[in-house]
Amino acid sequence: GRVCLAYSGVRLTGLDTSTILKWLILEGYTVVCFLAAIGQEEDWAEVEKKALALGAERMVIEDLQREFVEEIVFRAIQCNAIYEDRYLLGTSLARPIIARAQVRVAEQYNCDILSHGCTGKGNDQVRFELAFKACNPKMKVIAPWRMPEFIQKFQGRADLLKFAAENNIPVSSSPKAPWSMDDNLVHCSYEAGVLEDPDHSPPKELWTRTVDPIDAPDVPYNFTIHFEKGIPTKVVTPEGEVTDSVALFKLLNKIGHDNGVGRIDIVENRFIGLKSRGCYDTPGLTIARLAHLDLEGLVMDAKVRKLRDQFVTIEWSHCLYNGMYFSPEREFLENSLVYSQESVTGEVRMSVYKGAAYVLGRKSDASNLYSQEDASMDSLEGFSPMDTSGFIAIQAIRLEKYGLQKIKDGKP
Ligand code: ARG
Ligand code: SIN
Repeated sequence: GRVCLAYSGVRLTGLDTSTILKWLILEGYTVVCFLAAIGQEEDWAEVEKKALALGAERMVIEDLQREFVEEIVFRAIQCNAIYEDRYLLGTSLARPIIARAQVRVAEQYNCDILSHGCTGKGNDQVRFELAFKACNPKMKVIAPWRMPEFIQKFQGRADLLKFAAENNIPVSSSPKAPWSMDDNLVHCSYEAGVLEDPDHSPPKELWTRTVDPIDAPDVPYNFTIHFEKGIPTKVVTPEGEVTDSVALFKLLNKIGHDNGVGRIDIVENRFIGLKSRGCYDTPGLTIARLAHLDLEGLVMDAKVRKLRDQFVTIEWSHCLYNGMYFSPEREFLENSLVYSQESVTGEVRMSVYKGAAYVLGRKSDASNLYSQEDASMDSLEGFSPMDTSGFIAIQAIRLEKYGLQKIKDGKP
């Protein structure tokens, strides 16, 4: 058979999928390796060299950054996407784009089997395999970390190192961080190893996408983000302006990085039912999300916003977290999401300072919902304050009955 393997690269992990690559070849498969360039740090030349040296028929590397930003990251911003009130979904957002590209590459090189190095306890295996099914239902999957014969052979790092030595798999000599990392344009995630103890604080050197807020500049940095229909279209800084989608997002990442914005350390609930502890630094998306939320406050209808918050935001975020991106419900949600963003055009002035992002001001010509005149404490125009007496009296009917019942029951 012909297998298209999601190759992990050499910088962070290397060992794991190199083992899988070699093992597949020894099992008699022909292997095409695929690696998505999606904003992570990597030694691309080394990746190709290593995969080919180990016997891959071909090493395909595709730059997916633009697809990622325009199709998914900007949707996440429009949606204010968030999981369990904290996680901005950095890893989850990238998976559909990577999985779809892997299927494309498999088809291109006549592979009928897809393989990956995800563990059997995580979210990623679910995300990849559900996306594979939706993108090409005919593809078969080999998930070595769920196969008894593979797991028995490789019970610990010692087994992996022994196999590497026997099969001339080069193992990076630089010591590996004592946790697992996954990075893309949106974030870097840190899990497992010493972080499995939820009371073990992340050490200062863990974070790769943000400086420690203590070491950030002692003066605030100010800039403006422009939105059109909920999508960031321009960032203006004292140094100039950027309008290209990928460049703009990278600029927000840099601003967040330099000022220590976007770190979280949480315990989350995985789709498969386990709790897991993760640290994430997500500089650009943290800033863009705050600016977008703020502009919505100015321009969005109250009831539309409530429905979007309670339904679309939560469900879209769960679709992404649970690997249901390629699904009818995600398409359905996205239609309402896009509709909700019709008036979200304007600009937000922002400031970042030592780990925090602030809004300095916002304006928009796209909506007349906010009226300085109506809201003013000094003006008697618009509706009459006397009308409000009736509004309160009617709202109070039910609550008066509730209060009387409390007195009757003798409860405070
Ligand atoms: N817990 C996060 C998520 O499920 C991050 C997963 C990181 N994945 C990885 N293979 N290191 O989205
Ligand atoms: C993995 O199992 O590959 C990492 C963790 C996860 O997917 O949640």
